[in-house]
Amino acid sequence: MAIKKVGVVGGGLMGSGIAQTIAQSGYDVLMLEVNQELLDRGVERVQGAWSMLQGKGRITETQVGEYRGRFRGTLDLEAFADRDLVLEAIIENLDAKRSLFKRLDTIVPGDAILVSNTSSLPIIEMAAVTKREAQVAGLHFFNPAPVMKLVEIVRTISTADTTVETLREFARSLGKTPIVAKDTAGFVVNFLLIPYMLSAIRMFEHGLATREDIDTGMKLGCGYPMGPFELLDYVGLDTTLYAAEAIYLEYPDPAYAPPTLLRRMVQSGRYGKKNGRGFYNLDEQS
Ligand code: 3HC
Repeated sequence: MAIKKVGVVGGGLMGSGIAQTIAQSGYDVLMLEVNQELLDRGVERVQGAWSMLQGKGRITETQVGEYRGRFRGTLDLEAFADRDLVLEAIIENLDAKRSLFKRLDTIVPGDAILVSNTSSLPIIEMAAVTKREAQVAGLHFFNPAPVMKLVEIVRTISTADTTVETLREFARSLGKTPIVAKDTAGFVVNFLLIPYMLSAIRMFEHGLATREDIDTGMKLGCGYPMGPFELLDYVGLDTTLYAAEAIYLEYPDPAYAPPTLLRRMVQSGRYGKKNGRGFYNLDEQS
């Protein structure tokens, strides 16, 4: 099927970055938030990115005008009635995602595809509440979505080949490289990345090295753009904890068990860059 109109549910960091990427690639994009304040914040983030890119000379004023003309915000899910593809990027809560998919299924056209950007929850549990299981998949972007080149297409036991092929073509049209993963916790990237970050936390907990030295080690020793603690703060400690819990639930191996320090940091409201408190603001003694 030909995708022309796309809906994005959720205008947070990932939702707005994904909506920005899709609008830049020629699609008509409608982005939904739950209230005006959050919608304004998400829309401003997208508009701000385009202004930044124009300021750097990466895109022209004409392009900015075209992108803006293709991108709108809404508070009304019914406005998704003409969308060919809808991507959800809301909170990592299965009940919330399942009720959203149930509603979307009754709103979008019969041949539309529904995808989730979840980093940890089973896609089949969202597909199961719809009458279009074959047209439901995961489409997992990486942060920052406009910059990172990878998209994981997550195929459930019910996803049709045609759905995977349409999503593969769609991802390529965004300038991304798609890979296909099974609907198992962590998919491909987080299954490797999460235990790596958890190991770094355990090294720090056991006093094997400082955060700074661990980060420097991985940046200069392996050529990674960020060390594990910079990346933890960047991705979000809450997001990392949810992903670790989801992987540990399916693979009860100690490598995936969230370290106590990560739990305590999230319990204390340290979420990383998103609220300014993470590993790099942590008191050495705590
Ligand atoms: N739209 C378009 N371009 C943007 C942009 C946006 N919203 N934001 C930044 N950019 C561009 C900048 O313009 C810049 O382009 P230029 O080089 O042409 O000027 C380029 O991106 C790099 O930006 P910066 O110069 O601001 O920053 P850095 O060079 O320090 O790079 C980084 C920042 C890309 C985040 C880099 O540090 C990096 O790659 N870090 C690792 C990120 C990573 O691993 N992400 C995956 C996390 S895991 C995940 O998301 C999965 C989840 O499920 C947990």
